Amino acid sequence: MENFLSVKDCSKEELLDIIKLAVDFKNNPEKYSQALAGKSIATLYEKPSLRTRVSFDVGIAKLGGHAVYLDQQNGALGKRESVKDFARNLSCWVDAIVARVFEHNTLVELAEHANVPVVNSLCNLYHPCQAMADYQTLYEVKGATLEGASIAYIGDGNNVAHSLMLAGAILGVDVRVITPIGYSPDALIAQHAQTLAEQNGGKITLSHDIELANGVDAIYNDTWISMGDSKSLEDVRKIFAPYQTNAALMEKTGAQYFMHCQPVYRGIEATDEVVDGECSLLMQQAENRMHAQNAVLMTLLKK
Ligand code: CP
Ligand code: NVA
Repeated sequence: MENFLSVKDCSKEELLDIIKLAVDFKNNPEKYSQALAGKSIATLYEKPSLRTRVSFDVGIAKLGGHAVYLDQQNGALGKRESVKDFARNLSCWVDAIVARVFEHNTLVELAEHANVPVVNSLCNLYHPCQAMADYQTLYEVKGATLEGASIAYIGDGNNVAHSLMLAGAILGVDVRVITPIGYSPDALIAQHAQTLAEQNGGKITLSHDIELANGVDAIYNDTWISMGDSKSLEDVRKIFAPYQTNAALMEKTGAQYFMHCQPVYRGIEATDEVVDGECSLLMQQAENRMHAQNAVLMTLLKK
C-alpha cells in the first residue's frame, strides 16, 4: 500500500490486517507508543470535521508522532498555489498527508506529486477511514470475525455508502444498500463493488425497498445531505421519510445493531431511541476511528 485513497485498491488480507492491527493497538497502546516516533503528518481540511480531526491528531500523538493541522485558511486546495506545488512543498517536511477534500481528483493529484503517502479522510466519492472503523466495530461485536456478517445501509447513496460497499465486498460481508429512487450509489462504483464481492465472497445488493433490511446484523445510516450538497432539507425530508431508522424498523428487521458515521441529525434520518438505545454502536465506531486510522498510518509508514 502506497496511499490510502480508497479501499478498492486493497486486498482482503490487507484490510483484515488493518482491522487486526487496529484491535491490537486498541488493546495494547503502549506496544505502539513509538511506532511513529520522529514522523510528522499533515492533516488538511477543505470541509468541517470533529471526529476525523480529533481522532487523527490524538491518534498520531499516541504513536509518538506529530500532527500538523491545516485548516480551510486557503479555501479549496489549488487556489493559492497549485495542488502540485502544495504536494511537493509538504513532502519536504512531512512523512504523510491526510486530506479531506471536495473532489476525489484533488487526492489523486496530491498523491501524484507528493513523495509521501496520502490518506483520504473523506471526499465526494469515498470515506475509507470511516469504513475501516465501521468494519472493525462489526468485527468486534461479531466476536473477532466478519464471517456471515450483514449490514443494511439505508439512506443516500453517498461517499459513506460507497466505501461501505467496497470494503464490505472485499471483506466478504453481505452489504445491502437501500436508497430512495434517484439516490442510488454511483453505478460504476456499485459495479466495481459487485465484482469485488464475487472475487472475495461478499454480497452487494441494491434496492429501493426497505424490506431488504430484514434479517441483517446492523442497520447503518448517514446524513441525507452531505457536506457540499445543495439539496433542500424540505425536499429531502419528504423523499426520505420512509427510510428513517426508528424503533419500529429495528424491531421489524430484527437488526441487533444501529450504526451511523455521525454527525447524526436526530429525528431526521434516525430517532433518539435508536441513536441512544442499547443497539447503538455510535461511540464504539467513533472511538475506532482513531484505532483504524492509526493502523492505516502504521501500515503505510512501516519500514
Ligand atoms: N464521521 C466523520 O467523518 O465525522 P467528522 O465529519 O466530524 O470528521
Ligand atoms: N456523507 C457525509 C459524511 C460525513 C462524515 C458527508 O460527506 O458530509
